[in-house]
Amino acid sequence: MLTVLGNFRRTHYCGEINENNIDQSVRLVGWVDTVRNHGGVVFIDLRDRSGIVQVVVEELKNPEAYEIADKVKPEYVIAVEGKVRRRPEGTENPKLPTGFVEVVADKVLLLNTAHQPLPFQIEDEIKVNEEVRLRYRYLDLRRRPMLNNLLLRHKTYQVVRNFLTDEGFIEVETPLLTKSTPEGARDFIVPSRLHPGKFYALPQSPQLFKQILMVAGLDKYFQIAKCLRDEDLRADRQPEFTQIDLEMSFVGREDVMNLTERLVKEVFKQVAGIEIDYPLPIYSYEEVMSKYGSDKPDLRIREDVITPLIELTDIFKNTQFKVFKNVVDKGGIIKAVVVKGGAKTLSRQKIDELTKFVQKLGAKGLAWIRVDEDKLTSPITKFFSKEEIENLLNRCNAQVGDIIFFQADSDRESVYKVLDALRRRLADELKAREEGFKFLWVVDFPLLEWDKEEERFVSVHHPFTMPREEDLLQIDRALNTEDIEERKEILKGVKSLAYDMVLNGEEIGGGSIRIHRTDIQEKIFKLLGIGAVEAEEKFGFLLEALKYGAPPHGGFAFGLDRLLAIMVGVDSIREVIAFPKTQKGICPLTNAPDYVDPKQLKEVHCEVERREEE
Ligand code: AMO
Ligand code: AMP
Repeated sequence: MLTVLGNFRRTHYCGEINENNIDQSVRLVGWVDTVRNHGGVVFIDLRDRSGIVQVVVEELKNPEAYEIADKVKPEYVIAVEGKVRRRPEGTENPKLPTGFVEVVADKVLLLNTAHQPLPFQIEDEIKVNEEVRLRYRYLDLRRRPMLNNLLLRHKTYQVVRNFLTDEGFIEVETPLLTKSTPEGARDFIVPSRLHPGKFYALPQSPQLFKQILMVAGLDKYFQIAKCLRDEDLRADRQPEFTQIDLEMSFVGREDVMNLTERLVKEVFKQVAGIEIDYPLPIYSYEEVMSKYGSDKPDLRIREDVITPLIELTDIFKNTQFKVFKNVVDKGGIIKAVVVKGGAKTLSRQKIDELTKFVQKLGAKGLAWIRVDEDKLTSPITKFFSKEEIENLLNRCNAQVGDIIFFQADSDRESVYKVLDALRRRLADELKAREEGFKFLWVVDFPLLEWDKEEERFVSVHHPFTMPREEDLLQIDRALNTEDIEERKEILKGVKSLAYDMVLNGEEIGGGSIRIHRTDIQEKIFKLLGIGAVEAEEKFGFLLEALKYGAPPHGGFAFGLDRLLAIMVGVDSIREVIAFPKTQKGICPLTNAPDYVDPKQLKEVHCEVERREEE
């Protein structure tokens, strides 16, 4: 019964058929979405990427077509020729754009079958393990929400290309087989066959090449670039992902920020029909950390329900409560978050759950106070003086019905991390987020931070980021001392010209003004503990390029997948990527990564011990 397409050519896409086509003869192709046999009449919902149209095949009128239609199953591929007619009254489906018409088939060709049963139904909402969806991604992508995500992604590419082209940017491709570009992750490496023992690194970003393009005088560059990073995966991370990457010459940070926020505004408007408030609010790193404990705060969290972080260290300077006293003595901090009306919304059991939750994040505990009508209920108020309680309640502006949660730690980062996570978790539990899209800029990041494990300074953005001009002298001062503690103290005040764009609590992009002078770049390498030999080996080509008339320049990169995922409203970036990897970095469709033939390994001068996976 299977037949070939021959010279059958479609006249329309299924989703295009409407009342204007009534009485026209049409030819359609597509997949059987559903099939219902009403005895003598078969109804087929025929689907292609544009939508669905109902096809009617009547046994009496057309026994040949009926015989085929009677046997088709979901996802069979068919071609239909027939006439469009208005659906009989009462049988219309106003939910479908094609719901007022149907195609009465004169001819049905069966072009291909589909294995039955299907691993899952092709429906908008399905409940199947994601690994199964990824293994049969070609079926998963037939589902309307997935197709829509790909269409929006396609539209985004177009809007970005048009916008940046109009702004004078030139699209350039940079190599995938290259040298390491450090962005803070591990490199994926590729052995060279022609150069035994040597390896290419796949780029973590086009960073170095785009800077070199500025030295080359391109002035404005962009690329929709694949970036590859071998890092531990989370919901918002993939080992390969896409950036909207750009770089500009003779600009300051405001210019890049202005351009990129206009770009994101355009994308939201053109792709999703959403107007975003503009210009975006700008916060300093210090501000967001002390207020939200995060450099990517979720400004959708309702502050009238879950307050920002409240500073309490000074109130408990001389407290009798040992936990707090110890922290103060060690130079740590005490902060709190108030949940308005928490007495009603958070049970004791919930507080215990929250305590376990923060302990998993490294917190030592979660002290709390509930403000009841006639008293305070709390495991810790007994340790506090009257004055401390009064100051505390005032500072927290605590009202009857509120609950105050405390975090005290000698490590301020821990307090920030825990209270940020607690606020996000509470926002989930109490459904305390506003709808919509809350953007912000975070600027004035520290240039360097101390990595406790590695016992050295590391770049907060990347090593090519320019310090603020007013901090350049401090860099010399830091280099003039060998005393690490003194260095740390000096470098605390050194801020960079980096900027991050944050949307709904996630970093959707970041960039900086770059170091365009060799002398400054060398100093930064020194502070990072990258010696002259190592710098030459790793980035010699960049350092050399900077010597040949490098213009001042800066740029930015959006995480395209993250931007889209948030815009579309899905939980994971995997939903907006055609063929993503699982959390374990596996592609269930192709079964990559996989073992390779020993012969192939030999050719690239590699040997591995083959180990079956546990
Ligand atoms: P950065 O490393 O901040 O900057 O990356 C820019 C943006 O890329 C996204 N992103 C990711 N998305 C998915 N999976 C990942 N593993 C992943 N890692 C990063 C984030 C991030 O904000 N060269 C610089 C940019 C510049 O300075 O111009 C860079 O790559 O949304
Ligand atoms: P403890 O004296 O250790 O029994 O703690 C008394 C209360 O303070 C308990 O509710 C703990 O969960 C809480 N707690 C202990 N350590 C901390 C800390 N570092 N920050 C906030 N709360 C804490």
